[in-house]
Amino acid sequence: MAENNIILTGDRPTGSLHLGHFVGSLSNRVRLQNTGKYEPFVMIADLQALTDNAENPEKIRQNILEVTLDYLAVGLDPAKTTIFVQSHIPALTELPMYYSNLVTMSRLERNPTIKSEIKMRNFERSIPVGFMTYPISQAADITAFRAKYVPVGEDQLPMLEQAREIVSSFNRIYNCEILVEPEAILPENSSCNRLVGTDGSSKMSKSLGNCVYLKDDEKTLKQKVMSMYTDPEHINVSDPGHLEGNAVFTYLDAFATDEQVNAFFPEYQTLGDMKEHYTKGGLGDMKCKKLLNSIMQDMLRPIRERREEYAKDKGELLNILRKGTDHAIEVSNETLKLVRNAIGIDYFSDKEFLEKYAK
Ligand code: TRP
Repeated sequence: MAENNIILTGDRPTGSLHLGHFVGSLSNRVRLQNTGKYEPFVMIADLQALTDNAENPEKIRQNILEVTLDYLAVGLDPAKTTIFVQSHIPALTELPMYYSNLVTMSRLERNPTIKSEIKMRNFERSIPVGFMTYPISQAADITAFRAKYVPVGEDQLPMLEQAREIVSSFNRIYNCEILVEPEAILPENSSCNRLVGTDGSSKMSKSLGNCVYLKDDEKTLKQKVMSMYTDPEHINVSDPGHLEGNAVFTYLDAFATDEQVNAFFPEYQTLGDMKEHYTKGGLGDMKCKKLLNSIMQDMLRPIRERREEYAKDKGELLNILRKGTDHAIEVSNETLKLVRNAIGIDYFSDKEFLEKYAK
């Protein structure tokens, strides 16, 4: 068998994409895509978005092309990466039906990502069944394409573990090797694994209002950087500053190279030197923010400009999605066929069945 180089990952279209998405997964996708060694699939997870937005489909409709634009803006290339829409793939509604028989309620209740999401949404016992079971649906997303690699941030690790368990149960119970156990591809830089919000809180998240969006204009970006959370005890420039929990330094860790620091502040050779000065006292927050703003502007400008360019032709965006979706249907239907055969429900084409029961 040829080596499996299939990548699959996706995003919920509940808003346009932000820096957390970018450092957690998008930049890895683009990097892997450009090696030319993989077959990448990138999915707009509208079904998953519906699991907690059933009453607000307009929010999802609004963001289908927004997310597509973000993908193209960061450098996903439809000639190399299949970009598609989840709800249009028959396998992604059918496979979860089979997989849900292999997962217990108590297993779902133990999923730490689900646990924290339930808390964040105040669902308590009124949690929609579809939301509770979205890890099963996500296992279908991955396995329908028999993907080996899933570039994600570390918050998605419990989803991958669940998917691997389903794969191993399925292959064992139905005595086959059809499904593939996926692996996560995490960001190399640990500050990127779960990028903090501009307010310093644990995760950049739309519902917390602490995001930097890929499409933010220059002014908005600058405003967000200048009002970022730093160190509440660093009141006078001469006070010693703390790096721990300091969002500006977390972002510098995530985005700044020593060369950039040195070009902006010739008095420091490295980011390390700059941190040392900050910790000792004598380096003001404003100066740090100016550096960060300059680095982030340089990073996001080309993305924003490409986004604006693509936004001019919505017909072309639709074509990209339609073509990608058609290809994804084809690939995943192959898996569906194998899965039905493995379970033994392909009655009309299964010779053994016909021989045994329909003679
Ligand atoms: N749960 C992911 C998120 O919230 C989105 C997603 C849906 C996904 N299906 C996927 C990610 C399959 C990786 C693989 O960001």
